[in-house]
Amino acid sequence: MGNSEQLAVGVIGTGGMGSMHAENLHARVANARLAAVSDVDIARAGEIAERYGSVAVFGEAVELIRDEEIEAVVISSPDQTHAPLVLECLKNRKPVLCEKPLADSADAALEILEAEVELGRKLVQVGFMRHYDPQHVAVKEEVASGAVGTPVVFKGWHRNADQNPGITSEWVVINATIHDIDSARWFIGEEIEEVYVRGMNTAPKLGEDVWDVQLIQFSTTGGRMGSIETNVVSGYGYEVGVEIVGESGVVRTAPPSGAVVRRERAASQRIEDGWLERFHTAYVIEVQNWVESLRNGGPTGPDAWDGYASLVVADACIASLRSGSPQKVARLEMPLLYGEGLEVAK
Ligand SMILES: NC(=O)c1ccc[n+]([C@@H]2O[C@H](COP(=O)([O-])OP(=O)(O)OC[C@H]3O[C@@H](n4cnc5c(N)ncnc54)[C@H](O)[C@@H]3O)[C@@H](O)[C@H]2O)c1
Repeated sequence: MGNSEQLAVGVIGTGGMGSMHAENLHARVANARLAAVSDVDIARAGEIAERYGSVAVFGEAVELIRDEEIEAVVISSPDQTHAPLVLECLKNRKPVLCEKPLADSADAALEILEAEVELGRKLVQVGFMRHYDPQHVAVKEEVASGAVGTPVVFKGWHRNADQNPGITSEWVVINATIHDIDSARWFIGEEIEEVYVRGMNTAPKLGEDVWDVQLIQFSTTGGRMGSIETNVVSGYGYEVGVEIVGESGVVRTAPPSGAVVRRERAASQRIEDGWLERFHTAYVIEVQNWVESLRNGGPTGPDAWDGYASLVVADACIASLRSGSPQKVARLEMPLLYGEGLEVAK
């Protein structure tokens, strides 16, 4: 580790997510420091560097990765940049926390998997931050304790307040639903085997062929079932939650914990505006745990297998939304490097 005993972390991409990670590394995460930033918009990277002081600026992300001072990398540039930058991190033996999705296709994720297996050492973590969200963790702990018996049905919902034109139905799957696919695998403890996607357009501004509301039904390798509702133009706010139906009970994420305001003959609670607000705590815990794990030998969070396995499910979802019929998930066998795979739910 570097001279200051603090892990020197470089952040690639200084937009919404990258500037948030940079601020957390600077101000909220112990035993780490924001050492460098990179953005193709060099002025934006420069502003972040100036704000936090003693931060190097790189116009080229690969230069940040190759810099000897940089001990670990956070990738928060757009989806299509993830795979080449993660491969560069592997080439340079740098631990990397890559925002979701791990790549923009399952094939590209497979290249990462193969490179990491070849290296024989896990260096990649994927930014599935719900694993660190206290509301999700509380549900996971209840399920794992056996409180509701074997989980048999997963229900997930993921609603964004609004969306700018320019997106596609496929983007909704790869960029938004990917989180819920990962959640389903994590909570049920089994891989998804078959998916069936239906959708509709409720927001003409996106283009009539864009399904802004999508409903996925799935079954798992052990015959359990689930549904995911993704709605990228909910119109009312940002909301993410899960419900796990077990053999003897149900566990659900807690509703918002903000104050209840009673006025004009109505009671109301604020609903968050977006992910930066809703998952503020999760992002800090995610990076703090990642830093600690690197100090103790290697990453312990969602890994390249999770990134790959969720992308093959996303591919099947895309095939289903195009064909209108259920699709099997074509997945490789898990390489030994990734251990036992998903923790089997009781
Ligand atoms: N985990 C989550 O909850 C979550 C939430 C939102 C976005 N994301 C993911 O985070 C990533 C970034 O999303 P965002 O909302 O911050 O996007 P953004 O558009 O706000 O920021 C992306 C930044 O990357 C820069 N950039 C583009 N190409 C680059 C390159 N080759 N090298 C360096 N910088 C480059 C852009 O100039 C921009 O500043 C995406 O992959 C997205 O899917 C994750």
